[in-house]
Amino acid sequence: MELPFAEAWKIKMVEPIRKSTRAEREKWLLEAKNNVFMLKSEQVYIDLLTDSGTGSMSDRQWSAMMLGDESYSGARSFFELKDTITRLTGFRYVIPTHQGRAAENVLFSYLVKEGNIVPGNAHFDTTKGHIESRHAFAIDVTIPEAHDTQHELPFKGNVSLEMTEKILKENPGKVPFFVLTVTNNTVGGQPVSMQNIRETCALCHKYGVPVVMDSARFAENAYFIKTREAGYQDKTIKEIAKEMFSYADCMTMSAKKDGLVNMGGFIATNREEWYEGCKLFCIPFEGFITYGGMNGRDMAALAVGLEENTEFDMLDTRIRQVHYLAQKLDEYGIPYQRPAGGHAIFVDADKVLDRIPKEEFPAQTLTCELYLEAGIRACEIGYILADRDPVTRENRFGGLDFVRLCIPRRVYTNNHMDVIAAALKNVYDRREQITHGVRITKEAPLMRHFTVELERI
Ligand code: F0G
Repeated sequence: MELPFAEAWKIKMVEPIRKSTRAEREKWLLEAKNNVFMLKSEQVYIDLLTDSGTGSMSDRQWSAMMLGDESYSGARSFFELKDTITRLTGFRYVIPTHQGRAAENVLFSYLVKEGNIVPGNAHFDTTKGHIESRHAFAIDVTIPEAHDTQHELPFKGNVSLEMTEKILKENPGKVPFFVLTVTNNTVGGQPVSMQNIRETCALCHKYGVPVVMDSARFAENAYFIKTREAGYQDKTIKEIAKEMFSYADCMTMSAKKDGLVNMGGFIATNREEWYEGCKLFCIPFEGFITYGGMNGRDMAALAVGLEENTEFDMLDTRIRQVHYLAQKLDEYGIPYQRPAGGHAIFVDADKVLDRIPKEEFPAQTLTCELYLEAGIRACEIGYILADRDPVTRENRFGGLDFVRLCIPRRVYTNNHMDVIAAALKNVYDRREQITHGVRITKEAPLMRHFTVELERI
């Protein structure tokens, strides 16, 4: 008999979690103003808010932490991290930052000017925020098929070359760089093919525009290239990742995802002038250039994390778990962005709560319902997260309205996946009775989803 699949790790340390009652959750959600970011973690049973900084480190990472060098400058841990990054990505210059958005802040402070246009395949919200707060414009050039949640494509995170070329042609001198996000988080953790990476970079370079790879989930992207793209089956994840980076000019990294650490990030490039430019912003914003917002021990753990998470078995374990959850949702007929992505399932809230108008934020409503049902904390990646248009100040209802069930790395078992699927089924089965959504009572001008206050209508 063929042996079944099992995780590529065993568990050495556990953290107890606790269920709650519906009455408790109703009280807590009201206190949190219907914004799950405002809940205390003890009020959550299964936490799917994000896969960012929520993973479990390995015994090797914990032991590396004990060897961290905390010297203010020239720490050994920095050079070990830098060497690992250079080996995996081919980039020689490395600037550590405290997380991904800090890398964006440092790089964009140097590169983005008022009135600039920064195209990309669905910028993450902090990326968009760092562009728009500098009075520049982030334009999404993801392939239009990505917006049809039921359309199955192996590389649904791809860039539309046509849309990109139009922007590049019409805006000479105004595009400081292109942001290529792998995997494409906003449209559902969807991968970008090697062919599309190669063609996008070649197109940008033809117009003299450099490419910055937002690499938060680069290893998951490499996994999909290996398992879905012709010609890559026999290559290792490390070889594929290196080829991905070889086409780009720079990377920003949120190490809290595919770096398998709880905090950290970096910028890496071969462009010496960019490195020099970033240094000027790294020192006042983040810290000296050999720690830039990270402890020596965190850099040591990150070097090991990058090494581990570019091994096929680790990625296979993770992505199979996400796909296990997807299969359960298929059994129950619950619509989500198809095919399932790398780090999460993106439930299509517009289709689930089709009686709730956009103005009442279906995905946020479904997020609240799932929490009330079982204490599961998901995250709205939809109309609230999209923020208002910076010019008209109108809500942006043009995109997709998802509830993201985001799976932390090496944290939950498939039994937890069963609970998540069952809870969602219960909400799905009573969807006809959910006829009213939520209304915003207080919001920040930018990145409002973190602190927004809402009331049930
Ligand atoms: N880029 C992408 C594609 C991201 O998904 C994130 C964070 C960032 C940049 C910013 O990195 O959090 O380290 O500052 N995404 C998290 C999420 C927060 O939940 O998807 P950060």
